[in-house]
Amino acid sequence: MRILVIGSGGREHALAWKLSESPQVDDLFCVPGNAGMAEIATCQKLDIMDNDGLLKFAKKIKADLTVVGPELPLVNGLVDCFSQERVTVFGPTSVVARLEGSKIFAKELMVKYGIPTGKSRTFQDRGQAIRYIGESSPPVVIKADGLAAGKGVTVALDREAAREAVDLCLVKRAFGQSGQQILIEEFLEGQEVSLLAFSDGERVVPMEPAQDYKRIFDGDRGPNTGGMGSYCPVPFVSPHIYQEIVEKILQPTITALGEEGIKYKGVIYGGLILTDEGPKVLEFNVRFGDPETQAILPRLKSDLLEIMIRTVEEDLEGVELQWSPESCVSVVLASRGYPESSTKGVSIYGLEEAKKMESVYLFHAATERSNGELVTDGGRVLAVSALGKDFQEARRKAYLAVDKITFEGMQFRRDIAARVCG
Ligand code: GLY
Repeated sequence: MRILVIGSGGREHALAWKLSESPQVDDLFCVPGNAGMAEIATCQKLDIMDNDGLLKFAKKIKADLTVVGPELPLVNGLVDCFSQERVTVFGPTSVVARLEGSKIFAKELMVKYGIPTGKSRTFQDRGQAIRYIGESSPPVVIKADGLAAGKGVTVALDREAAREAVDLCLVKRAFGQSGQQILIEEFLEGQEVSLLAFSDGERVVPMEPAQDYKRIFDGDRGPNTGGMGSYCPVPFVSPHIYQEIVEKILQPTITALGEEGIKYKGVIYGGLILTDEGPKVLEFNVRFGDPETQAILPRLKSDLLEIMIRTVEEDLEGVELQWSPESCVSVVLASRGYPESSTKGVSIYGLEEAKKMESVYLFHAATERSNGELVTDGGRVLAVSALGKDFQEARRKAYLAVDKITFEGMQFRRDIAARVCG
């Protein structure tokens, strides 16, 4: 089969790598891809927001399946465009993608169908939002309604910070249209967990849980990023909690959307918090997580292509995913200045050495080849994942590999998965 992967991040490299392991895959193409993806696939530089251009390319290469990685093309209707022309594609339609593209849409759905989530109010008017903050007790969470590249959520520890976050959205318009409406939500305490599942519109097939590290610095300090590391599975998600998440959150969300006349086919990502009252939804995403995917897929023993095809064909009945019993730890290496800015064109050294290590996986993100040399091309540059018999071993291997890699200004966290190493 001929497979096309859309995207260029570490998540898409992990997806392309796992798909390339399927005996059914003959040819792999990526748009636009990165230097790592170019080692296993034919990459083509096209605009991932140009639905017609991507459709034309998929038809030209006679793709049997196109897999869409990032949220932007999903919200932009890429899957709708392919489906109208009966070109097989993995991912949800733009109506479903509103679950990620509009936090207000997601919240209203959860409230209507009793899916556990934090209490919140919606505002467009600054005056009303400020009055509400005056009446509530901090901390509170201010969320821009739309997509904001991971920057639209502020946990405000006091009223002043809450007012600033409101102004950022409603007055300074820092997130453009995405911040024209906001949610002010109660602050929930607990460990955060990501649980992703395949959905064929009716059933869900959950993956193993992962945890993502969102802040730039060790000890969860500094600004939010796209994600600085992850690990899988999550030991404190007991079988009982896992079942609760599937039965009270993931499956009811798919069923609720079905009742609204919306069929969810693809991956649903529950961004969850484990509170004293049980798991609650912080946010939904309509795609694989980045960098969770880089820690989940090295443990997946099942054929990813087969699961994706069964998802598209609405045939997930009886599917059970097979997992390696090993633990996986993934550490993100980022450029100087990230997340506020990033540097490009900086030479990367040591990858060949790191690559030789057993059970180590190097997933490229912002990398490219310049005159044959590997250089950085943006904020998150690489994810270094390692499998081990337990978290101690996986973590040790991941950091041994990280220590072989250098580029000027390289930033990474030293505490990924430390909390599960006892
Ligand atoms: N890891 C966060 C995300 O994928 O949105």
